[in-house]
Amino acid sequence: MKNTKVKALLASTDFLKEIQVSGWVRSFRSNRFIALNDGSTIHNIQCVVDFENTPEALLKRITTGASVKINGTLVESQGKGQTVEVQVTKVTILGDADPEEVKRTILQPKRHTLEFLREQAHLRARTNTFGAIMRVRSALSFAIHQYFQQNGFYYVNTPIITGSDAEGAGEMFRVSTLDEKNIPLTEDGQVDYKQDFFGKETNLTVSGQLEAETYAMGMGQVYTFGPTFRAENSNTSRHLAEFWMIEPEVAFCELDGNMDLAEDFIKSVLKYVMETCPDDIEFLENRLIQEDKSKPQAERSTMTLREKLNFVIDNNFKRVSYTEAIEILRNSKPNKKKKFKYLIEEWGADLQSEHERYLVEKHFECPVILFDYPANIKAFYMRMNEDGKTVRAMDVLFPGIGEIAGGSQREERLEVLQERIKEMGIEEEELWWYLDLRKFGTVPHSGFGLGLERLVLFATGMGNIRDAIPFPRTPLNAEF
Ligand code: 4AD
Ligand code: MG
Repeated sequence: MKNTKVKALLASTDFLKEIQVSGWVRSFRSNRFIALNDGSTIHNIQCVVDFENTPEALLKRITTGASVKINGTLVESQGKGQTVEVQVTKVTILGDADPEEVKRTILQPKRHTLEFLREQAHLRARTNTFGAIMRVRSALSFAIHQYFQQNGFYYVNTPIITGSDAEGAGEMFRVSTLDEKNIPLTEDGQVDYKQDFFGKETNLTVSGQLEAETYAMGMGQVYTFGPTFRAENSNTSRHLAEFWMIEPEVAFCELDGNMDLAEDFIKSVLKYVMETCPDDIEFLENRLIQEDKSKPQAERSTMTLREKLNFVIDNNFKRVSYTEAIEILRNSKPNKKKKFKYLIEEWGADLQSEHERYLVEKHFECPVILFDYPANIKAFYMRMNEDGKTVRAMDVLFPGIGEIAGGSQREERLEVLQERIKEMGIEEEELWWYLDLRKFGTVPHSGFGLGLERLVLFATGMGNIRDAIPFPRTPLNAEF
């Protein structure tokens, strides 16, 4: 007999039907009521065991954490909070879970701290919180592909191991280093790939943008969606050393079109999760309400999770230039001390996350797209404005998160790009292929990158990015 998922059983009205369901025991009450979960939904299904006709030895093995296969009949439930339950005819233990051992794990049914859950990331999928988060993450990933596929974009896979540094920021994980003074050669004078595989310094990619640009310059509209790596200090609640980035790249598109795309895209995928994961979102919303109760009044959120999501979906993102933002920040009194930790002294300074969050949460009270940043704080590939000082950059800022996406219109003019590359001290030969795109049929084009985990953080209301990815990679943390 085939298993039916708990989610399908809970929605079924096929009463008296013989069914089979397999899952993990969340709890076993009064030698009678199994709360069974199979990961298909936040909800458990109640399975009622006929304990008088079940051997004592078998009952003893139905413990929290054990895996079981249950055969029985689906019936209407008399119990509170559930519409259906399973009248068990047969329990098969698939895998035992020793109650004494379970005590040291997060399977123990009680409230655990998120820190403790992180230490047992291999068991997090068995908890309600992580089941809900990861179902939302999965739905978001699907919605992301669906959005681009339905809007005429092609999915391109850009390299994971790369010889270029897209951001020019020097925050890369080394794959191989070639000592240029001591290149290993074979007897016949070729570079010996057994000693240096690529014959070139290579790293894990920090962004697929530059390679995505090459495909946009032929296929028109493309997107990447893959893992990216940054050896930056990720001891914050917003940074990971390994994260998944979505990067659309669009030919014949200027900055305004890029902003329109980012806004429409983000709204669309958030709408999708609200529609397809209502139970998980409701669970996460209640979790936040519980969490808020232990906080001082001033720190509690004024909106529920669903209100926040709807707010983003229903309201226009405010578009503000860097220069306007700096003026606002200079004239602001963010708190009782009336000061930011980092003061914006002059035009040209980079914004810190406290500034970004102030603009979004206190000043505009809605998502903000900041654009036209000073050239000197942004990457070499961004298109120079007529003023010669600012570039056509944009950052999308979200409440509780700060920067959720960043992008730009790209510099499509060969001479201007060469000039910028020189100014930034980058070797032109390193980017010969990138410059070729400007030599043969260059066009205005734009794109952005959005970190999946930051979007998951927003959609789930979680506070730490380590809880938005199954196995977070941060300094001194690669256990799994
Ligand atoms: O702003 P970033 O560095 O932009 C780029 O990499 C561009 N090449 C993107 C493009 O235009 N195609 O990164 C883009 C986004 C950020 O807005 C943030 O959401 C996420 O990637 N991000 C991180 N997420 C988690 N951990 C980190 N260490 C991240 N660094 C960036
Ligand atoms: Mg950025």
